[in-house]
Amino acid sequence: MQQLEKQDLLRASIDEIGKEAIIQVFQFLNGSQDYPTPISIHFDLTMRCSARCIHCRQWTWPQRNTLSLIQLKNIITRFMQWKVKTITFGGGNPLLYKYINEALVFAREADMDIGIISEGGQLDDKLCKTISDCARWIRFSIDGHEAKIHDSIRRAPGLFNMVVKNIKDLKASNYQLAIGLNCVIQKKNIGTLPQIIQFADEVGADIIMFKIPHGNDYRGEYILSLKEWRILVDLIQELNANKTYRVKTNLNALNYMLNSVIKEKDAIEGRPVSSFYIENDTHCFAPFFFLTCDSLGDMYPCDYLQADVRDWLEYYNMRNEFCLGNILEDSDSILGRLAMMMTEQIHHMPSRGFSECGCCTRFYHINHALSLFGKRLDATTCNVQDINQFLRLDVLPGHAVSFL
Ligand SMILES: C[S@@+](CC[C@H](N)C(=O)[O-])C[C@H]1O[C@@H](n2cnc3c(N)ncnc32)[C@H](O)[C@@H]1O
Ligand code: SF4
Ligand code: SF4
Repeated sequence: MQQLEKQDLLRASIDEIGKEAIIQVFQFLNGSQDYPTPISIHFDLTMRCSARCIHCRQWTWPQRNTLSLIQLKNIITRFMQWKVKTITFGGGNPLLYKYINEALVFAREADMDIGIISEGGQLDDKLCKTISDCARWIRFSIDGHEAKIHDSIRRAPGLFNMVVKNIKDLKASNYQLAIGLNCVIQKKNIGTLPQIIQFADEVGADIIMFKIPHGNDYRGEYILSLKEWRILVDLIQELNANKTYRVKTNLNALNYMLNSVIKEKDAIEGRPVSSFYIENDTHCFAPFFFLTCDSLGDMYPCDYLQADVRDWLEYYNMRNEFCLGNILEDSDSILGRLAMMMTEQIHHMPSRGFSECGCCTRFYHINHALSLFGKRLDATTCNVQDINQFLRLDVLPGHAVSFL
């Protein structure tokens, strides 16, 4: 099976990103280098999906066009010129995109490592084979160990059984393909997390990754209450200490986060890393390495500033404010605009308590690590020895972060 660790730079720790890329960032910050090109892209092939999840509002987005085959090819060629190493196809549901087979083949031909995130879908023999041949990993969302819970969270009858079938078909097509499950911990499944791990084990998944919910839960439907949060902290500690299952998990990293990073008041407000970022004076580094591209070719510094799981209308202005432009129309100016936005605004946003940055569990590790590094660094030099020395200092939590 493909190696599960280090499979996805988007969720990597800094020792996996590559020292040259880190050096370039600090050289940009001290004014001696141009803005670095991204090493990883989150590419939303369509914003359409098959569910109306309680914890996500992407299903409120209006119908939008998707890319033609030529546009798709042009975008992947541009990513290749940027020397992008990993690409994650997401959405919406990437399996619903008309040219998903071609997208996989183009990205593979461009020598990118490919991941897919989906809630499941119809996989004909051809798509099953293309995924098996081209992708390095696929992750399905699974929020319950049985149809009753999963389908009621996703408000999509039949979705649970679809995912189970997808996993079986893909494993039959290529046993080596790494198949993961993503579970957003929430009110409706907090009582059944051990069963979800057991389900992941039995269905043949290679890894199950739990995610902490974020967002504006106006109706009190999914974000945990204080009492539920405290139960979760104890439960994760217990599950992490008694590993009796085959399937890999992110329980170790999650346990660390619950005890050492996330404040309970932030968790129950749907902004899990808000205080951590402010108290540690954390700066944002993620868009130096990772960018998001939507189904029209519009690019964003990160999924959070694209407001991908938020209500369309409520976040309309914020989404436009952070849009970097369209890669099909003017690919050259995207990095220029980002360079300006990073310097003037984004780099400082988490430390200043920008609300959406409080949701950024995915990048907290790299943002924290590079902020610490930046403070220790001689501003005029930055070389491989500096980075090696920093990594040896042991000031970082010793785990790679595996969060969605
Ligand atoms: C936006 S979805 C896109 C991919 C696909 N539609 C799916 O559901 O897997 C990507 C992941 O984000 C998760 N997600 C959505 N809303 C979230 C929230 N408010 N908090 C945490 N994770 C969320 C989803 O459950 C899913 O695993
Ligand atoms: S989590 Fe995925 S399936 Fe659910 S509403 Fe959001 S985009 Fe759609
Ligand atoms: S810290 Fe803020 S701007 Fe940076 S990646 Fe996270 S959400 Fe995006």
